[in-house]
Amino acid sequence: MAVGRLTGVCGIVGYAGSGPALDVVLDGLRRLEYRGYDSAGVALSTSAGLFTCKRAGKLAALEKALADETPPEASTGIGHTRWATHGAPTDTNSHPHLGPAGRVAVVHNGIIENFDGLARRLEADGHELLSDTDTEVVAHLLEAEVMKGADLTTAMQRVCRRLVGAFTLVAVSCDEPDRVVAARRSSPLVVGVGDGENFVASDVAAFIDKTTDALELGEDQVVSITATTVDITDFVGNPATGRRFTVDWDVEAAEKAGYDYFMLKEIAEQPTAVADTLLGRFTPEGRLRLDELRLSDDELRGIDKIIVVACGTAFHAGLIAKYTIEHWTRIPCEVELASEFRYRDPIIDRDTMVVAISQSGETMDTLMAVRHAREQRAKVLAISNTNGSTIPRESDAVLYTRAGPEIAVASTKAFLTQIVACHLIGLYLAQVRGTKYGDEISQVVHELESMPAAIDTVLDTVEPVRELARDLRDVSSVLFLGRHVGYPVALEGALKLKELAYMHAEGFAAGELKHGPIALIEPGTPVFVVMPSRGRGPLHDKMANNIAEIRARGARTVVLAETGDDQARECADTLIELPPVPTLLQPLVATVPMQVFACEMARVRGHEVDQPRNLAKSVTVE
Ligand code: G6P
Repeated sequence: MAVGRLTGVCGIVGYAGSGPALDVVLDGLRRLEYRGYDSAGVALSTSAGLFTCKRAGKLAALEKALADETPPEASTGIGHTRWATHGAPTDTNSHPHLGPAGRVAVVHNGIIENFDGLARRLEADGHELLSDTDTEVVAHLLEAEVMKGADLTTAMQRVCRRLVGAFTLVAVSCDEPDRVVAARRSSPLVVGVGDGENFVASDVAAFIDKTTDALELGEDQVVSITATTVDITDFVGNPATGRRFTVDWDVEAAEKAGYDYFMLKEIAEQPTAVADTLLGRFTPEGRLRLDELRLSDDELRGIDKIIVVACGTAFHAGLIAKYTIEHWTRIPCEVELASEFRYRDPIIDRDTMVVAISQSGETMDTLMAVRHAREQRAKVLAISNTNGSTIPRESDAVLYTRAGPEIAVASTKAFLTQIVACHLIGLYLAQVRGTKYGDEISQVVHELESMPAAIDTVLDTVEPVRELARDLRDVSSVLFLGRHVGYPVALEGALKLKELAYMHAEGFAAGELKHGPIALIEPGTPVFVVMPSRGRGPLHDKMANNIAEIRARGARTVVLAETGDDQARECADTLIELPPVPTLLQPLVATVPMQVFACEMARVRGHEVDQPRNLAKSVTVE
C-alpha cells in the first residue's frame, strides 16, 4: 500500500547524553521548525522500549499531544519537523516511523527513489506498511537487520547501501538505548560535539545553545553517537572522518532578539550583514582579495561564459549580477532558474563558469544544476550563506556570504549579501582580467563600503511604508515596475508580497508594460516603481514616461526614488525616498522598503510572517 513519496524538506535532530532527551529534542526542533512545519514527532529510547509521539501540524500540536502522555525519562532521543512534498500531512505519515516490532525508530529528510521496489519486496515478505512514506520502508529494513543480530550502526550501513536517492536518516533502537545512528547522502547532517552529550541535526541551529563544536559529515557517511563517543564510517564500515568546525553564530543570533518576527530582525541586520560580507575582502589599496575562491587567476582568465543558476530570491540576485558582471568584465552572462537549467541541455564546457547562488547551500534544484555543470566540466563557483553545506562542498570554489542564520522563510539579508557577493565576483574577474583599471575598482569598493550606512538610512525612514501597507491591506493586486537593475528588484518586491501576504503581485520590466500588462491597471491599482537614479538620464526619463502612462489609467503610484528627485516627487502618489547611490548598487537600498512593506502587509492581514503557508526555507527536493 505504500504509494506516495511524502518526505520532504525537514528538520532533524538526535541527542545522546545525560540530560532529559525530550526537552533537548523539542528545543532543537523549535529552532529547526523553519525547515518545515507540516508535522512533528519524537522518539525516546530506553531499555524498556521506544516511546514515540507524532502529530500533523506545527510543533505546538506535538507538544499538546505530549502533555496528555507520560513520556519515559530518557537520555537518548530523536525528533523531526516535516515539510511534505506530496499528499496531505497526517499523523500516520509523520515521523518517526517504526519497524513492525517497534524496536527501531527512524526520521528522514529527502527522498528514497527506489522505495517502491523495496516496499514491494517487504510486502512480499509479509511486512505491512502503515504509511504512504518512503521512510517507513527504511524503518522496516533497519529493524530487519537488527533482528538478524546486527548492531544499529552496521544495520544503517547495510540499509544505506541499498538506498537510491538523497537522504539524511537518524535512528534509535531500544536494543542500544544510549546510541543514535545517522547517515547522509546529498542531504544535510552535522554533528554537535558536547561535553558528555552529542547531537546530530540538519543544521547547527538545533544544538547551538549547547555546543559550538561541530563536525560536518561527508557524502555517504554514517555517524554513531553516544554521550561520550562519535564514530564515523562510510557506508561499507570503513572508518572515516568529518570536518571539524566551530560555529560562529550564537544562540542570540538564532533567536529573535526582541523583534516580533525573525523577518524584522533579519531586515534590521542587513547593514551588518552587508558589512560582514565585505569584511577582509580588500587590501588597504582597494584591491580585491578573495582568499577562499580556490580558482587560479589563469582559470579565471580562461572563462568565456558565465551562467548563474539559482532559485527564488537567489535567482533575483543572479539577475542583478548579469548587469554588473557583463558591464565590468565583458564576459557574456546568462541567468537561469536552476530547475530549468539541466533539462534544456545547456551549452557549457570547461571555459564556462557556473555561479550557483543558494543561501542554504542545500536547495536540490540548484544542487542538481551544479552536478550537471560539473559533469560537463564547467567550473562551478558557489555563493552560499551556509558553511560546509552541500552546494559549496560540491563546487570548485566558494564565496560565503556572511549574513548569519536566516530563519524567516522569506529571504531578506541573504538576498542583499548575495548581491554583494556577486558584485565582488564581478569586480574580482575585472581585476584579474584587466577589464577595469585599479582605480575604477577601488572606486566601486569604496562605494560598496558605504552601503551599510545607506541601508541604515533606509531603515530609519520606513515607517511611512508600514503605514502604506496598512492603508492598502484590502487591495487585490499590487504591481511592481523596474528598469535595468531595478527590474529584478521589482520581481523581488512582488515575490515578497506573494510569499508573505498571499496577494496577487507581479513585477515587470517597465518598458514591457505597454506590450500587455498595462491592461491590468484599473483605477486605484497600486504600482510600485523603482526609479532609476538621475545619473542614468535616459533610463530615468523613460521611467518618468512609464509612470505618466500608468497614472493616466488611474494607477496609484508608489515611487522609490533617490532623495532630491523632483521629477519623481511630481509623479508619485506616495514617494519613498532612497539615499542616492550609484545605479548598480541601487538594489541594495531599493529592496529594503519592499521587504518592510510585505512584512507589514502579512502582519495586518493576519498571516504568519516567519512561516508563510506552503513554503519552506530550504527545499531539498526537486
Ligand atoms: C525557498 C525559499 C526562498 C528561497 C529559495 C532558494 O523556496 O522559500 O525564500 O529564495 O528557496 O533558497 P536558497 O537557500 O537556495 O537560496
